[in-house]
Formats: sequence, structure tokens, C-alpha cells
Amino acid sequence: MTPARVNVVEVGPRDGLQNEAAIVPTAAKVQFIEMLAAAGLPVVEATSFVHPAAVPQLADADQVLPAIARRPGVRYPVLVPNMRGMERAIAAGADAIAVFTAASEAFAQANIRMTIAESLEAFAPVVSAARAAGMWTRGYVSTAFGCPYQGEVDPAAVADVAVALHELGCDQISVGDTIGVAEPDDVGHVLSPLLARMPAERLALHLHDTRGRAIDNAEAGLHLGITTFDASASGLGGCPFAPGAPGNLATETLVSWLHGLGIETGVDEAALLEASAYIRSQLS
Ligand code: COA
Ligand code: ZN
Repeated sequence: MTPARVNVVEVGPRDGLQNEAAIVPTAAKVQFIEMLAAAGLPVVEATSFVHPAAVPQLADADQVLPAIARRPGVRYPVLVPNMRGMERAIAAGADAIAVFTAASEAFAQANIRMTIAESLEAFAPVVSAARAAGMWTRGYVSTAFGCPYQGEVDPAAVADVAVALHELGCDQISVGDTIGVAEPDDVGHVLSPLLARMPAERLALHLHDTRGRAIDNAEAGLHLGITTFDASASGLGGCPFAPGAPGNLATETLVSWLHGLGIETGVDEAALLEASAYIRSQLS
């Protein structure tokens, strides 16, 4: 069963750029985001209200978000790790937020300096405040298929964290192969126990293409009923707290594969390529 339509969540301006050492000017980030939205991407993750020292590339979040000429119907989620980030996101006019934790304790500690349980506690008031303000909310479960620090990750832990985020009120849960180690069989092993506890419509799959398996893994997800996939224009990205994590699944690869299967995305491939070329020109 192939769905008629798949939702592509563009994460290049955040997951992509946060791993680039050369600081991109604020105006270029804004232009990149506007080009992606104009290309038809329905969700463009714009930036991150984390500690500026944790991700220097996105230290201009307070300037980027209000500068975007927003297109009606497009969502611009921003990462928020705690109430301090939430206050900044509200001040900058956020319409959607994403909280993020992990399925492995070692990664949660390295990334956000919290245990998984502490992170869920920290997110509760963030998600409540977001919902009270009418914002769309997303929760990330990183390292669902393997952790750069602790190796194996238990699928039961992934399901527990995803369900906990769902119970906090997150509209969508993105399950991430942060370091790109998943094989197609793993997609079933990790998602099946979760799908027994949560509807597929609430889930997104976040893939990295470290070993060139991202499309095969997306296909496995599609067969399990997943209809939302994260991707990064030009395959930019990785995570600065996940050593050895190269690019995300490239949005153009995902979109052209979906279109080849006759699945609609609403994305104009030529316009997407222009957005990718633009950001590449800013990085070289
Ligand atoms: N934005 C700006 N400043 C923040 C902040 C935020 N979201 N969160 C905390 N701070 C400030 C506090 O105000 C405090 O400042 P002060 O010392 O002047 O009072 C200081 O940072 C320490 O606060 P604390 O709550 O102890 O944070 P921490 O040092 O334990 O860091 C995080 C926790 C989550 C804020 C930090 O680890 C982080 O931003 N991680 C993000 C990592 C990331 O983005 N990874 C990539 C995404 S996968
Ligand atoms: Zn990622």
C-alpha cells in the first residue's frame, strides 16, 4: 500500500546548518528558509532556541525567525530545549516548536545534559505553554537506531520515550536515526512495537544517509504506514553531538523517489534544487 501523499518535513535550516562550521549570515538563512517554503515544503524547521554556545551556527535564532516572510499554510517549527528557549521562541513569534530527547541516556546527557526522565520533566511545561498558545508541537526521539556513545538502543526504550512525548501533548513524534546506522529490517524492529502503541499518522521518520541506506529505510517505513519523513535540502547536516554523523537524507532524493512512485509531496523539484544550490553557495 502506497499512500497518495507524503508529508516532507524540511530540517535543513536547523539539522543541516547546525553541523556546518562556517557561520552563514542571518539574511542568507532567512532566504534559504523562504526558498524552501516557496518550493512547496509544508513544514520548514527554521532554527533552534538552544544555548547559543551549544550550537553557535544558530545563535541568531532570535533574529532569523521574525525576519521570515511566512507563507500561509507553512509551519516553521523551532527547537526548544527548556522554558528559557520557549520564552525566546515566543518572543520571536514561533508558531510551532519541537522538543528533543533521546532513546539512549548517554546521548541525552551529551546533547542536553539531562537524563531522559529529566528531559521529559523539562518539556512538560514547554509543551503545555505551546499548546496553550495554539502552537503545533513536535517531539524528537534521537538515537532510536543506535547511539554514538552507548551503541545498541532497545526498541522498547524508543517506544517508551515516543509514547511519553505523545502523552505530554506532542502532535507529532519524529523517530530519528541520528547517526544513520539503520538497516531496513531495523525500521520494522524499532517501529513495530511503537506502532502497537501509537497511530502511524502521529509518527515521522528522521533518517540520515551515513551508509547510503536512507531511501531503503524510508521504503521500509512507508510499508509500515509512515507518511511523514524528515529530510534536509542538499543532504546538509548531522548533529554536532553525534560524532561521525554526516548528512541527513537529502530532500531532493526523497522527493524525487516519492514522485517516481507516484506519491504527491506538493514540492516543486526545480525550486527545491535552487534552494539547495543557494545554500551551497553560502557555504563554500
Ligand atoms: N537559550 C539561551 N540560554 C539558555 C537556554 C536557552 N535555551 N537554556 C539555558 N540557558 C542559559 C541559562 O539561562 C543559564 O544562564 P546563566 O548561567 O547566565 O544563568 C545557563 O544557560 C545554564 O542553564 P542550564 O539550565 O543549567 O543549562 P545547561 O548548561 O544544563 O544546558 C541546554 C542545557 C539544554 C540548554 C544545553 O545543553 C543546550 O542548549 N543543548 C542543545 C544541544 C543541541 O542543540 N543539540 C543539537 C540538536 S539534536
Ligand atoms: Zn538529524
